Amino acid sequence: MTPNGLDLQAYDTAGAQAIQDDLFALYAQIYADQLSDPFYSVERFAERFAGHSGRTGFELVAGRIDGALIGYAYGGPLPPRTQWWNGLREAVPAEQTEEDGRRTFALNEIMVTRDWRRRGIARTLHDALLADRPEHRATLLVDPGNTPARTAYLSWGWQLFGHLQPFPDAPVYDALVVDLPLSHVAAG
Ligand SMILES: CC(C)(COP(=O)(O)OP(=O)(O)OC[C@H]1O[C@@H](n2cnc3c(N)ncnc32)[C@H](O)[C@@H]1OP(=O)(O)O)[C@@H](O)C(=O)NCCC(=O)NCCS
Repeated sequence: MTPNGLDLQAYDTAGAQAIQDDLFALYAQIYADQLSDPFYSVERFAERFAGHSGRTGFELVAGRIDGALIGYAYGGPLPPRTQWWNGLREAVPAEQTEEDGRRTFALNEIMVTRDWRRRGIARTLHDALLADRPEHRATLLVDPGNTPARTAYLSWGWQLFGHLQPFPDAPVYDALVVDLPLSHVAAG
């Protein structure tokens, strides 16, 4: 059940970058146990955020309760010549990974602060972000050891596409996909 009082707000590139200090602070709180791993450091997160948020079609949905940021989700369409599918372990027909900027929305991040988990907030952020997207499918990468996230995605209709290591010091992720529009969300 989604708690009453959850305020959702959507941001484009400029809007999200204007609140990036709040976004980074929440990231640092949520990933506190992993920040010593260079890949999960705030600096690397900020670099990834700069790249993702600068992309045409970027969108972020933030959730606040009583004015406090408690979670957010963001992503954007994969451009032509994207490197997203680089590092895919399985051989798949080329047309499955061909991108034109309109085919696939990449969900880059979703996070909710510990005190507010298991109340449907991530799902609400996810659905709000994806509900009106014009792309035909969405994709994300999840660490297979991240049971809460992986379980959530599979229960929300995502399916395994393959296994993918985007950078040499990154984990080998599960690459998931889901068709858009989401079957359980009415477009607004
Ligand atoms: C993953 C995350 C965003 C989920 O946020 P949330 O607000 O708790 O998610 P929701 O309440 O919308 O959905 C909860 C669902 O997630 C799954 N889930 C959550 N915690 C779980 C756990 N410990 N074990 C198994 N499944 C779990 C279940 O499917 C659950 O549904 P249920 O409560 O009906 O059983 C949150 O745990 C988080 O921020 N984790 C750290 C950041 C992260 O890993 N992000 C994903 C990167 S790919």
